[in-house]
Amino acid sequence: MATQPDASEETLANLLHEHRRFPPDAGFTAQANATSSDYEASASDRLAFWAQQARRLDWSHEWTQVLDWSNAPFAKWFVGGRLNAATNCLDRHVAAGRGDRVAYYFEGEGGDTRTITYAQLTDMVCQAANTLTDLGVKAGDRVAIYMPMIPETVVAMLACARIGAPHTVVFGGFSADALRTRIHDCDARIVVTSDGAYRRGKVVGLKSAVDEALLDCPDVRSVLVVRRTGQDIDWTPGRDIWWHDSVDQASTEHHAEDFDAEHPLYVMYTSGTTGKPKGILHTTGGYLTQCSYTHWAVFDLKAESDIFWTAADIGWVTGHSYIVYGPLANGATSVLYEGTPDTPHQGRWWEIVDKYKVSILYCAPTAIRTFMKWGAQIPAKYSLGSLRLIGTVGEPINPAAYIWYRENIGHNRTPVVDTWWQTETGSILVSPLPGVTAGKPGAAMKALPGIVADVVDDAGSPVPDGAGGYLVLREPWPSMLRTIWGDDDRYVDTYWSRFPGLYFAGDGAKKDEDGDIWLLGRVDDVMNVAGHRLSTTEIESALVSHAKVAEAAVIGASDETTGQAIVAFVILRSEAGDGGPEVVQELRDHVAKEIGKIARPRQIMVVPELPKTRSGKIMRRLLKDVAQDRPIGDVTTLADSSVMDLIKAGMPSDA
Ligand code: WTA
Repeated sequence: MATQPDASEETLANLLHEHRRFPPDAGFTAQANATSSDYEASASDRLAFWAQQARRLDWSHEWTQVLDWSNAPFAKWFVGGRLNAATNCLDRHVAAGRGDRVAYYFEGEGGDTRTITYAQLTDMVCQAANTLTDLGVKAGDRVAIYMPMIPETVVAMLACARIGAPHTVVFGGFSADALRTRIHDCDARIVVTSDGAYRRGKVVGLKSAVDEALLDCPDVRSVLVVRRTGQDIDWTPGRDIWWHDSVDQASTEHHAEDFDAEHPLYVMYTSGTTGKPKGILHTTGGYLTQCSYTHWAVFDLKAESDIFWTAADIGWVTGHSYIVYGPLANGATSVLYEGTPDTPHQGRWWEIVDKYKVSILYCAPTAIRTFMKWGAQIPAKYSLGSLRLIGTVGEPINPAAYIWYRENIGHNRTPVVDTWWQTETGSILVSPLPGVTAGKPGAAMKALPGIVADVVDDAGSPVPDGAGGYLVLREPWPSMLRTIWGDDDRYVDTYWSRFPGLYFAGDGAKKDEDGDIWLLGRVDDVMNVAGHRLSTTEIESALVSHAKVAEAAVIGASDETTGQAIVAFVILRSEAGDGGPEVVQELRDHVAKEIGKIARPRQIMVVPELPKTRSGKIMRRLLKDVAQDRPIGDVTTLADSSVMDLIKAGMPSDA
């Protein structure tokens, strides 16, 4: 395992000086869903607590055992229980007389809007389920979804859930190559996509990327295409089907079968420390239980009156759990926004908050830092008076951003919840409970009821209060990943082998003097760039796949707005010349094509050598020193200590 990264040390130093506290407001506490006794109740009988939470859902058969951990670390939750995730999200609300409640206020980037009630969404999902069944999709088959942020994306996911076909949603910003890798890995036979998407006022192609990906996916038999932009697209007769010719014409009657609690619900790919993305498998009963519970407790959700907005993409786990499954399971009303925060102007989010009277907002620290850069005068033009709770996720929130968010968006009125979790955890595990836990800028505070988290040292022993180490989970939880798709060994190895018997999250953390938890960033080769998880190795493989590159090393350098930024060091092949700006540009574009624009390095430095240990391991720590223009650290373990002088002599040669 890599050592604690430098960024964490900086964060740690800052955090030691952070003493501001925001105790819960008595008015908020009086009406809060969560109470302080939830911690005690769950601690005295954790499994009974989760069984109680599972009763938030409708089960067609009751489970016989809450947790089967006999084959650890392969968990089974709610053993023998049966349910349907989609009917829990839709039909049961309609049956209870809430069919007219709005499920989504959709706001298109260009200002087009749609209001979709629970009854309408149920009909749409039944239609899509019928179409997928007509296309031969059966329970257990995988369906890839490559879509923009439009209601049909939710419909496609729930239609899959309804018929028991695990979906794999691939973020629409990923390239054709990335899509193809994921289709291959989970052997999807059907792809749902749209002609294109709107991005900053421009039209971008999605179907064209699917066409390119499918050149090498002979097993994909059907492509279901939503018309969103109306742009021209290529058409493969017999394979391609318009959504409006199929789904919109299908019957709204669909009988939903029930499935085992452990039936696969979806596979979500995420970056690990090797080049190959990991397919994180989530199953039905435990996942939905914990999405529902956390959405209710952490966001203090009042389904009748709140307007909830997760400003994230459905292509990431945050969108799965807190745009789709959590809110719908709870019968909530959500906003679904297609576009970017600055289209057509930098006040767009705040305009949306006022327009729909959003009461709960959930977003990423990188967005907050961007708003800080744009200036407080922009949100100040809007009322924001409907907000009563605001939250963040995706990366550590630095105290300055927390305070800015609290003051300029929450108007010092609303609780702020800094929520820690991962694609692997399925739902929030560490967070303040609003109305119960005080807020500390920069701290995710406490493991939620039912969760047993700890911070341990290198040997796996708990650190005392006031010390730093690694975040681990001591007990399984209902929405945990069940495995890595098709690779049980990698699952055990990645998460359960560093500290035997403990789940290791890959994050550095610290307990403060009160025993509260502060997250300090990744301690492995995973970067967090604007809340997107990317692996250094994945980008290095993309670089060396270019004919001009001999060797590459990638690091995450500190960046004021995006948290980390990608900086690559490359050694060119001799025939490629000495690396002028055109080559650098060509390489940046190459990475964007191989993985997606989010992976395009901020900077590429062409170097004559890379710093390596005698065993051949690249010392990224030293490259970080170069990228961040600070004194070079200890070079004594380098095979050739003059390498750093060579590299420094050639700086800067950037993009
Ligand atoms: C980081 C996103 C600090 C962390 C839901 C984790 C955080 C990775 C926080 C997972 C937070 C997420 N404070 N760090 N509140 N939330 N992270 O899988 O490094 O995209 O391991 O899931 O994001 O990213 P992922």
